[in-house]
Amino acid sequence: MPEEFQAPRGFHDILGDELKRFRKVTSTVREILRRHNFEEMILPVVEFADLFERSIGEVTDIVQKEMFTFEDKKGRRLALRPEGTAGAVRAYIQNRLYTKRVYHKLFYEGPMFRHERPQAGRYRQFHQIGVEVFGASQPYADAELIRICQDILEALDVKADIEINSLGCRVCRPAYREALVEYLGRVEDKLCSVCVDRKERNPLRVLDCKVETCKEAVKEAPKMVDYLCEECRDHYAKVREYLEVLGVRYRENPNLVRGLDYYTRTVFEVVSPDLGSAVIAGGRYDYLVEEFGGPPTPALGFAVGVERLALLVDVPEDKEPVYFIIPFGDVIHYALKVAEILRKKGKVAEISYRGGNLRKQLDFANRMGYRYTVIIGEDEVREGVVSLKDMETGEQVKVRPEEI
Ligand code: HAM
Repeated sequence: MPEEFQAPRGFHDILGDELKRFRKVTSTVREILRRHNFEEMILPVVEFADLFERSIGEVTDIVQKEMFTFEDKKGRRLALRPEGTAGAVRAYIQNRLYTKRVYHKLFYEGPMFRHERPQAGRYRQFHQIGVEVFGASQPYADAELIRICQDILEALDVKADIEINSLGCRVCRPAYREALVEYLGRVEDKLCSVCVDRKERNPLRVLDCKVETCKEAVKEAPKMVDYLCEECRDHYAKVREYLEVLGVRYRENPNLVRGLDYYTRTVFEVVSPDLGSAVIAGGRYDYLVEEFGGPPTPALGFAVGVERLALLVDVPEDKEPVYFIIPFGDVIHYALKVAEILRKKGKVAEISYRGGNLRKQLDFANRMGYRYTVIIGEDEVREGVVSLKDMETGEQVKVRPEEI
């Protein structure tokens, strides 16, 4: 195929076994969310670019480098959504959901778009299931969400590590930020050029830099957890207490900062050692609803990276028996009816489009792993039967279609 017609880099088709693994992830996550009484919503793929810039943060990789933006006919800047939380917050406010009940437990599923460098498990179009809780300030809400992450790992039999941290709030973050900037100034000569550039505008991100010298340089950096105000300290202690009660295995990572700016207090990531990246990530964002003009509403959530988890799951061979109907001669009316009878009984029936003699058709059925062939010739039609062949045992019998 000429290159100009191929899918753009980082945009991929999901087919065959990959799709089976993908569906296993989404159905498993949905089932767990159902048991927690989460309600689904479908959100637009396109929003105004401003919405993302203001929520995710101007000085983040997503906003500075990764958004697919374009202009509409009136010259307004739109963006393909790079994540779901901003749109969920917009929908919460715009639909005045806060007038309908005290708190909401919502989720959405769909494609997200980020112009990143593609690699294993990293695409420019990828899928998330995002979970958002609006109106819950209790630390047990944080613990329950993190427990859901562990449930997902257990149900899919995936090994990954849950890391948590607290990023404080309006009260305590400024003093920490100041201490961090001061520290980074002292180790500036050890930082990479990107970190030198962002050390004042977004100093927290430096803690998360993957460059070795930066990792080394921030080892002695002040930690947010040592600067938490009393309320944040108490909240974080309670989250850990409830995680123990819920039997969640987690690790505290004082350098965990996340790549989006809207977080407050609890943040968490579920990191796969096999992929070397997060498969699920989230946290609290207690100010975001208010910043977009809604009433002050504590909120929290996470998103599952569906493709990434799908890379880590196994699916069993699909064992559903298929009835493969092979018509010979002028028997199509009868074959169509036989297929309908089988499907009405809930069986999987397929009429052959293969053509060719009986041996070729049976070879094809074998190669496809079909369990039964239903052979229909003019004799069968006259007698009101079909010749049913069990492809595993080789046994063949004549039966009425209703009796299959
Ligand atoms: P995020 O950490 O940016 O958070 O993304 C969540 C997950 O999406 C990641 O852990 C990863 O599994 C997956 N992901 C991200 N980028 C890619 C990519 N390029 N290719 C494949 N998978 C990817 C958020 O998006 C927040 N909205 C999560 C959240 C919800 N926080 C609160 N509520």
